[in-house]
Amino acid sequence: MPALFRPLTLRDLTVPNRVWMSPMCTYSAESGERAGTPTDCHLVHYASRAAGGVGLVMVEATAVRSDGRISPWDLGLWADAQTPDFKRLAKAISAAGAVPAIQLAHSGRKGSLERPWRGGAPLAVSDGGWPTVGPSAIAFPGYPRPTAADRSEMANLVASFASAARRALEAGFEVVEVNAAHGYLLQSFLSPISNRRTDEFGGSLVNRARFVLEVLDAVRAIWPQHMPVFLRISTTDWIAEDPADSREGWTVADSIQLALWAREHGVDLLDGSSGGVEPKPIPTARDYQTALAARIRSEASVAIAAVGRITEATWADELVRTGQADAVFIGRALLRDASWPNNAAAQLGVPPRFVEQYAYAL
Ligand SMILES: Cc1cc2nc3c(=O)[nH]c(=O)nc-3n(C[C@H](O)[C@H](O)[C@H](O)COP(=O)(O)O)c2cc1C
Repeated sequence: MPALFRPLTLRDLTVPNRVWMSPMCTYSAESGERAGTPTDCHLVHYASRAAGGVGLVMVEATAVRSDGRISPWDLGLWADAQTPDFKRLAKAISAAGAVPAIQLAHSGRKGSLERPWRGGAPLAVSDGGWPTVGPSAIAFPGYPRPTAADRSEMANLVASFASAARRALEAGFEVVEVNAAHGYLLQSFLSPISNRRTDEFGGSLVNRARFVLEVLDAVRAIWPQHMPVFLRISTTDWIAEDPADSREGWTVADSIQLALWAREHGVDLLDGSSGGVEPKPIPTARDYQTALAARIRSEASVAIAAVGRITEATWADELVRTGQADAVFIGRALLRDASWPNNAAAQLGVPPRFVEQYAYAL
């Protein structure tokens, strides 16, 4: 059996293979009173990738508060009334053979935007946007300045992550992922570029990591001990790698330390993305990001899923087989081809999943 198609057990959960769907916003949630809830379009989109053979479907960034959406069209789990539609979604993913997982997120200073295909510009409050919040009153380039969260706002944010985790659990998701990547709220606390606080949540690495660890503790207190928690991080913000930029950014060494702390706070697997705290050029090499995940896996001895430009079955298998990653998240290739995993299985000589239903395709 190729390594890519071997099951992976995390706590009491066994994921049937190591080809997973990366979280990808579809900016297609209901609007008005049902804002944040998934539609039938989400159901088809996610269940078809599950039927296409992914072992785990990570549902896109789902906001823990309405002001934690990237756009007004994002999914959200900030109210109990939203849970039933997510239950339907989780059930559809399970029925099609994949583990239903969900990414919980708060957009922070990168929220209140138009949809990408409408230009993605900041939305004024009069156009359905909202004031944003961050660790410090420092704007992402080109976006409005956020309000610096005070301690009571931070406590409210932590509680919102916990409440959203409770709803995700009630909805039937088997894995919860906390999004601390891409310059959104949690990464903006981690990064010295966006966090200039002078209290115990700013300054040193241990202080900048404190808020993320508080969120993880709150989510872990809700999420049952036998079920896994994932953490998506930006392994680097590409500032340290830019010789023309002398500022202190977020480095791979910082990620290794965070990985160790996260494990102590109950995280079972890291999801190693990168960038997002500021616009930065990203290297063109195929392994631009997977190599960083491999380094963190080796130096921190944590389970990690690699992501980014993984488009070939043989390379995905090699990443797992050679111990560079425990699993791979596939993003855009799965948008192009919902059956990417089943095609990869066929290429690697493994029967696709649902072989009875799909036998005619062999
Ligand atoms: C349309 C789109 C939406 C995305 N939305 C999210 C998201 O909700 N949460 C997240 O952590 N990453 C998000 N990402 C990043 C992907 O999960 C993935 O890390 C990235 O696309 C690199 O993987 P790929 O080269 O396989 O596409 C998104 C990417 C795309 C293209």
